[in-house]
Amino acid sequence: MMESKKEDVRRKHIRLHMEGALTARDKVGVQDFVLLDAYTSESAFVDNLRKRFNENLIYTYIGTLLVSVNPYQELGIYTVSQMELYQGVNFFELPPHVYAIADNAYRMMCSELNNHFILISGESGAGKTEASKKILQYFAVTCPMTQSLQIARDRLLLSNPVLEAFGNARTLRNDNSSRFGKYMDIQFDFQGIPVGGHIISYLIEKSRVVYQNQGERNFHIFYQLLAGGEEERLALLGLERDPQLYKYLSQGHCAKESSINDKNDWKTVSNAFSVIDFTEADLENLFGIIASVLHLGNICFEEDDQGCATIPDTHEIKWIAKLLGVHPAVLLEALTHRKIEAKTEEVICPLTLELSVYARDAMAKAVYGRTFTWLVNKINSSLVNKDFTRKTVIGLLDIYGFEVFDKNGFEQFCINYCNEKLQQLLIERTLKAEQAEYEMEGIEWEPIKYFNNKIICDLVEERHKGIISILDEECIRPGPATDLSFLEKLEEKVGTHAHFETRKLAGPTGRKRIGWMEFRLLHYAGEVTYCTKGFLEKNNDLLYRHLKEVLCKSKNVILRECFLLAELENRRRPPTVGTQFKNSLSSLLEILISKEPSYIRCIKPNDRKEPSKFDDFLIRHQIKYLGLMEHLRVRRAGFAYRRKYEHFLQRYKSLCPDTWPHWHGPPAEGVERLINYIGYKPEEYKLGKTKIFIRFPRTLFATEDALEFCKHQLVARIQATYKSCLGRKEYVKKRQAAIKLEAHWRGALARKAIQRRKWAVRIIRKFIKGFINRNKPLCPDNEEFIVFVRKNYILNLRYHLPKTVLDKSWLRPPGILENMQQKVVTSEIFRGRKDGYTESLNQPFANSRINEGDINPKVLQLISHEKIQYGVPVIKYDRKGFKARQRQLILTQKAAYVVELAKIKQKIEYSALKGVSTSNLRDGILVIHVSPDDKQKGDAVLQCGHMFEAVTKLVMLVKKENIVNVVQGSLQFFISPGKEGTIVFDTGPEEQIYKNKNGQLTVVSVRRKS
Ligand SMILES: Nc1ncnc2c1ncn2[C@@H]1O[C@H](COP(=O)(O)OP(=O)(O)OP(=O)(O)O)[C@@H](O)[C@H]1O
Ligand SMILES: [Mg+2]
Repeated sequence: MMESKKEDVRRKHIRLHMEGALTARDKVGVQDFVLLDAYTSESAFVDNLRKRFNENLIYTYIGTLLVSVNPYQELGIYTVSQMELYQGVNFFELPPHVYAIADNAYRMMCSELNNHFILISGESGAGKTEASKKILQYFAVTCPMTQSLQIARDRLLLSNPVLEAFGNARTLRNDNSSRFGKYMDIQFDFQGIPVGGHIISYLIEKSRVVYQNQGERNFHIFYQLLAGGEEERLALLGLERDPQLYKYLSQGHCAKESSINDKNDWKTVSNAFSVIDFTEADLENLFGIIASVLHLGNICFEEDDQGCATIPDTHEIKWIAKLLGVHPAVLLEALTHRKIEAKTEEVICPLTLELSVYARDAMAKAVYGRTFTWLVNKINSSLVNKDFTRKTVIGLLDIYGFEVFDKNGFEQFCINYCNEKLQQLLIERTLKAEQAEYEMEGIEWEPIKYFNNKIICDLVEERHKGIISILDEECIRPGPATDLSFLEKLEEKVGTHAHFETRKLAGPTGRKRIGWMEFRLLHYAGEVTYCTKGFLEKNNDLLYRHLKEVLCKSKNVILRECFLLAELENRRRPPTVGTQFKNSLSSLLEILISKEPSYIRCIKPNDRKEPSKFDDFLIRHQIKYLGLMEHLRVRRAGFAYRRKYEHFLQRYKSLCPDTWPHWHGPPAEGVERLINYIGYKPEEYKLGKTKIFIRFPRTLFATEDALEFCKHQLVARIQATYKSCLGRKEYVKKRQAAIKLEAHWRGALARKAIQRRKWAVRIIRKFIKGFINRNKPLCPDNEEFIVFVRKNYILNLRYHLPKTVLDKSWLRPPGILENMQQKVVTSEIFRGRKDGYTESLNQPFANSRINEGDINPKVLQLISHEKIQYGVPVIKYDRKGFKARQRQLILTQKAAYVVELAKIKQKIEYSALKGVSTSNLRDGILVIHVSPDDKQKGDAVLQCGHMFEAVTKLVMLVKKENIVNVVQGSLQFFISPGKEGTIVFDTGPEEQIYKNKNGQLTVVSVRRKS
């Protein structure tokens, strides 16, 4: 339920969006006229063309026919990248382009191994030649190529400038107007490589050689030779640089034309000549002919007394004779006389001035015309591919389109006849193709109404009955035939034809518009009125036999090839121009009929060669004469659009969930499923065997728009998927990085922990070791332990400070720190006063230097009521003789005892202790002073290894301050009442204690820097 609602919303959205897109598209019209809804309206057609032209979109399709409007400006749409863009792409996938037509023909040729032609038609200046060059360039750039075949490609490309130099001219309509029709075959080998070519030319406009209208020029090559030719060459040809000097070049009064650079073009042509196999001799002969035409034009005739033509100045004759390799006198005679064949003999009679001019011009035209044909053949021989493996071809037909001027003559008649024939081919091919397709697809054929112009072709070409035959008859008829008599014959023989009219035959309304000398043909494209003036002469294209003979004997090789003796010997009349043209046209159609066609219709937007000017009137006229509406009608008769199921499905499969992203069944079923889903109505389409046929353009637009809308969604989805993919990739990368970081971090932490543990083990070990050795003198083993204990104690003191100032009870330090208290006392007594103090600092005090076991038990017993606090071995010096004796000094709480083995030699009660003296030197002498009034023995003179320790312990036990006296030089001591001894302290190189001559005890210590 939910799903279907969602789908409805989606479809609605598609429709809405579709309308918006339609108006947007309207701005540049449709790129295929078949998709015009109002396909029968010429205004709609012109509107569409204009919209596109204003956006510089010069190409539009009618099905597979390309309509091209000459932009008259460089649009930048012929770059190599554009060529690559169109290469191998489905025809309708890209905007219309001449490259698409070329590529389509090429692909079909390669895949189906058949021959193709591209017919390019349009008015003069509409861009036919440009289009054919673009196609040739497209093949040159995009087709595969091998090194050895590059030359063939270059020749194909370079044949163009040569042909254009000899066959193109400036006209009022086009600065580079092709004055001949051209069909060029490009031959491809089995690999699709262009390997050769063949050119056929049609109806070169020879009259231009001798006459040009105001503002027009002769063929380019004359001007190029004069502007660009080397000095020596011009001298050899007897030519001057200034084109104004030549009558054949200056009648149009525009010999120097700023838009044309003859000098540069000469270089291009010269270069092309060298590539397409022209030898120096060929060029010499060729330019000899070109120069002789110019000289011919400058021949001046005069009339003599008998009214015969003469040539007083033979300067030009000499040059022509030299250049063409004929005898000057013979040439002179041939130009002023005519051979008349009587029954058995030839009579030479002089020509009038008028006929001489005619003969001269006829010679110039014939020489140029035949040389052009020779040139085409020569180019063909250089383009020929000598390898006879099978080849396929693409033909390019660049031919004049319908011509309708104010005055239309024999040339227009031929050209328009040619267009009738080509139109017939197109209608037949298109209709036939349509019908064949319907049949093949099993779709019912709906007859199309169209005008079959075969009736007009017949009117012109039918044997014995057609206009050309009548003209030929009139040309050979004995008696005085004139253009007027020709017109009368026409009225007589084809007067009843529905497509033929003359002034006489027309009703009263039509009469006014037709002249006395004119006839009118109702061509398929519209009516054209032809003036018969000159028809006979142009059809005859007469060159006097006399002149022909001269030319046949020419030493110029090219001319000899052009004018064959056999022609003279053949007594039959050569075919007329009209018949020749008819024949060559029918062989052209034979060539075309066996090939697959593509069409390009060129339109020129204005008469002034200006960009961005769209002349509605002119364009309507061309649309009409190119038969575009007719063509569109035929194309649109049945279905506007058809496409192979595979292609249709491939393009639109995203519109239906069943076919997206892949449809695995048969394409036809997929298409059916798809169009059912998007809601095609039964009248909108038909399903053939391999193709879907869509009747109305709007159905296709709706589908296109839906696709456009869908594309956005698809793009969003693809983007989302892509982004999520990117995101996931990024996430995985980050995750891996995080895992790696974590692993490294954990490793670092673990290493740190192990370090800490090792450190802890070390510390604990050290602590234990320190504890074990705590009572030893300060050494590395206990150093830190003691620092630790000390620090701990001091920190602990914070919480156990004495409550009042009077309270002297401090927290009792740990055993090893009692030392410190004692050290403080030592410091107060000795710091700065006695040598050796500083060294003593790191010697921890011991509790006692004598174990109780080492004290004699008797002594112990004697002092058992007092607790022994400290004991140390000392040397006691007798007060009189200073004899040294080993003693023990034992301190209790009450008294100090000097003990000898089991005897207490002296007991000094602390109450009787008066003071203690030491020297300031490094000796161990200490004197304990006693009160003289006591029953004491006298002062004890002792020497002790642990002097600082012993004095400190004593002082602390006595609990009296300032009892220690550190003397300098000597001290007095009490021996017995009234008797004192002296100890002198001195320094010397070695320690000594001795009694001096004065009976004093002398103590010498070594002075060391501390
Ligand atoms: N596609 C184009 N892009 C730009 N300019 C163009 C294009 N086609 C034609 N032109 C211009 O128009 C001029 C006439 O074109 P082109 O010579 O092809 O006409 P044409 O149809 O061959 O005429 P004619 O029948 O006289 O030979 C060219 O010289 C060129 O300046
Ligand atoms: Mg041209």
